[in-house]
Amino acid sequence: MTYPKFLKVIKFDVCDSTNNFLKKNYREFQNEFPVLITTIEQTKGKGRETRNWFSEKNKGLYSSFAFFIKNKKNLNLLSLIAGICVSEVLNKISKNDFIIKWPNDVLYKNKKIAGVLIENVIFEKKIVSIVGIGVNLNHKQIDFPDELKESAISLKIITGKSYEVEKVNMKLSRLFFKWLEKLEKNEREKIIKKSNELGSLFKGKKILFHNKDKIIKGIYRGINKEGGLVLEQDNGIESIFFSGEIRL
Ligand code: BTN
Repeated sequence: MTYPKFLKVIKFDVCDSTNNFLKKNYREFQNEFPVLITTIEQTKGKGRETRNWFSEKNKGLYSSFAFFIKNKKNLNLLSLIAGICVSEVLNKISKNDFIIKWPNDVLYKNKKIAGVLIENVIFEKKIVSIVGIGVNLNHKQIDFPDELKESAISLKIITGKSYEVEKVNMKLSRLFFKWLEKLEKNEREKIIKKSNELGSLFKGKKILFHNKDKIIKGIYRGINKEGGLVLEQDNGIESIFFSGEIRL
């Protein structure tokens, strides 16, 4: 998919969650895919697992893309692409060192600046992918609730500048479709390579990996060619995971 000549963009002032909106309403837009839903504020921003995504008015970018994914085997790499394009956008606009924590959390010095929530639904035997992206742009440290004060960061805290959400959104969309095109052209190695580069700081480091109810200790060995996380456990055996989370 090259950058669509016409990307349908729907802008809200308030929305419960752009992902939820698309999950409820995607059928209405399917003839116009890809679509981008963006909002100034979310009242029920969702994070991964059962977490919320802090979505204060005018502070962050809260957007979701919906489109058809042709090949089921691309879903793991789709997850990587989302993290790649967010970190590339941030690196471009502020020339800082943003990194990816597998599969797609974007961090600055171990603090989270952006997250991705992908939800897939099946419609008439086709996969509709909803890729929700949240980026902390204009928050001051005091704007974050207490439980996030230590772990979250925004672009404004890093650079002291304010950012126009709409401009960031447009840059993000361009990059997103650029990487999606690579995925559809089956340029899988490029995606894995880029994701490994952006996550290279974790390579060889001891991590705690949360997978379902288990916490597994091991050494992070990178991302394999299917997009899975490679974890070397204490017994020297390498295991591959396609879901779960690295906790710092
Ligand atoms: C995470 O890291 O836990 C994922 C955060 C995803 C947040 C975005 S904001 C736009 C979209 N709508 C939501 O409700 N969540 C995603």
